[in-house]
Amino acid sequence: MKLAVLSDIHGNLEAFQAVLDVIDPLSIDRVISLGDNIGYGPDSEAVVAKIRNRNIASVLGNHEMAVRKKETLAWFNPMAQKAWSIAKAQLSDASLAWIDTLPRYIVTRGLRFVHGVPPDSVFLYLFQLPENKLIQKLAKSDESVCFVGHTHELGIISWDGTRIEKEKASLGGHTLDPGKKYIINAGSVGQPRDGTLGAKFVLFDTQTRVLTVKSIEYPVEKTRKKIIAAGIPEMYADRLAPGRNPSGGPDPSKKLDPSKTLDPSKSGDPSRDKGNGQ
Ligand SMILES: [Fe+2]
Repeated sequence: MKLAVLSDIHGNLEAFQAVLDVIDPLSIDRVISLGDNIGYGPDSEAVVAKIRNRNIASVLGNHEMAVRKKETLAWFNPMAQKAWSIAKAQLSDASLAWIDTLPRYIVTRGLRFVHGVPPDSVFLYLFQLPENKLIQKLAKSDESVCFVGHTHELGIISWDGTRIEKEKASLGGHTLDPGKKYIINAGSVGQPRDGTLGAKFVLFDTQTRVLTVKSIEYPVEKTRKKIIAAGIPEMYADRLAPGRNPSGGPDPSKKLDPSKTLDPSKSGDPSRDKGNGQ
């Protein structure tokens, strides 16, 4: 089975469509979203409508959780709350009903899919787990691979039964060792925080165990203008923008370095403290 795993689309229709345009010719058997389909971007309703129309399975992200349980919005910072409110106001009754159906996790074919950290956390970030907790989770896990999002940064963590490794998550193919357990961070389609501009996602072939990391260009300026026109805080447009890089957003001068180890615990992004609503 060939899977495409998308995370943190965040209402960015241009990025989402660019990813779908790449996926569609590839004979993918199943597309799974890791949640946070809404918020920050200008087109939350259009993104959810497209996900629904294509029967793309999704788990619950923290932005969807806030739709279901408004008290969880207290976890978001004021800027994220404002962006979330604009997204929420867009949502149709059908999209709200769809959000009500989202599970905290999906398990299929020995793989787990969850927004934050396994087994089922919507809010915890991978980088918040000390190594001993990470090992406990991997040791208890029945699945060999767990896909997560939430940090908006690509990453590959592996455990061979003895020690944890944070492997390079360069663009292109990585063959997963069947003797190890993995946590794969699929990055973000619509609000990348890894210092590069492209929409990130991963493909996984369950037979060959090849994980392919992708970064797709899309019309960033179009999305930026729509964010500003919608009254969404401009920082969420700035984070996508060429030439501007506030709060750890993408820096267009940086390319995804194939030799760089994408270690979620070493992001250095001060805006990612607990409570930013990411
Ligand atoms: Fe997110």
